[in-house]
Amino acid sequence: MDEKNLNGDQIRLAVIQQLEGLRRAGVTHWKRIDPISPPKTSQNSITQVQTTAIKSVTAQNPEKNPAPVVSTAIANSHTPTRTLVETESSELAKKKNASPPLVPIPFHPLDLPLADRIAGLAALAERVKGCTRCHELASTRTQTVFGVGNPQARIVFVGEAPGADEDAQGEPFVGRAGQLLNDIIKACRMRREDIYICNVLRCRPPGNRLPAPEEATNCREFLDGQLAHVNPEYIVCWGACAAQNLLGSTETIGKLRRKFFTYGRSKVLCTYHPAYLMRNPAAKKDVWEDMKMLFLDMGIDLAAKSK
Ligand code: URA
Repeated sequence: MDEKNLNGDQIRLAVIQQLEGLRRAGVTHWKRIDPISPPKTSQNSITQVQTTAIKSVTAQNPEKNPAPVVSTAIANSHTPTRTLVETESSELAKKKNASPPLVPIPFHPLDLPLADRIAGLAALAERVKGCTRCHELASTRTQTVFGVGNPQARIVFVGEAPGADEDAQGEPFVGRAGQLLNDIIKACRMRREDIYICNVLRCRPPGNRLPAPEEATNCREFLDGQLAHVNPEYIVCWGACAAQNLLGSTETIGKLRRKFFTYGRSKVLCTYHPAYLMRNPAAKKDVWEDMKMLFLDMGIDLAAKSK
């Protein structure tokens, strides 16, 4: 790899690979960054990567590597990223009087190591590329649109199906609805790359018609495969198509929102689709209520003023 021309994703991947190497070498803890006087380097920007790699350490061998404690500095800044593992003695930390309260990194026994998630998702994406189960979609698509984001995300977003922009670019939610989704993500003080994003369908329905039930059934194996690999704590269903398909419900989105459902280990929240919000901007406040409810459940108060 030409180090001078690395883009954000490549840097991220390189850091993940480095940390995986350290993990294999037996490193289980990482020095905490002093939240009061952060170093001048760009270390803060890789906090999520460092933490998720460490998370996979404990996930693989929770008895040998009990859940480490982490500083909640990041939670206090209202982003859902978890910060670095505390290694100092609590006495020392007390003396410095610089540490916020400590909480364990949540992990789950079904969490796959990062390398397995990346490989599993890549294998699934290859199968999707060659899929012809839905003849109409396979013969009209420019390309399949698998999914994008952090394979260790706490949250997976599920939308309906690719539109024209997604079909052209091969990535979900890159059109106008995607821009609005990005605004929502930003308002929640997250980055798009912190989340994993996919759809009920991986091919564009011609003319952006609604996915047919049998198309959703054909594609379900891939959606479930993605959810199983990422194994998120939370799933957000954007719009009735995602909500009804995932939950096997016929209720309207208005009835499905404002409560949590369960899918596997994940808590599921349903809300209005960004495309609906473009037509009905008054519903944006409802989505904001839903986001506040989701993040409060994650321990993050979006209503609190950031410092
Ligand atoms: N783009 C997507 O990828 N999914 C949607 O549901 C809408 C737009």
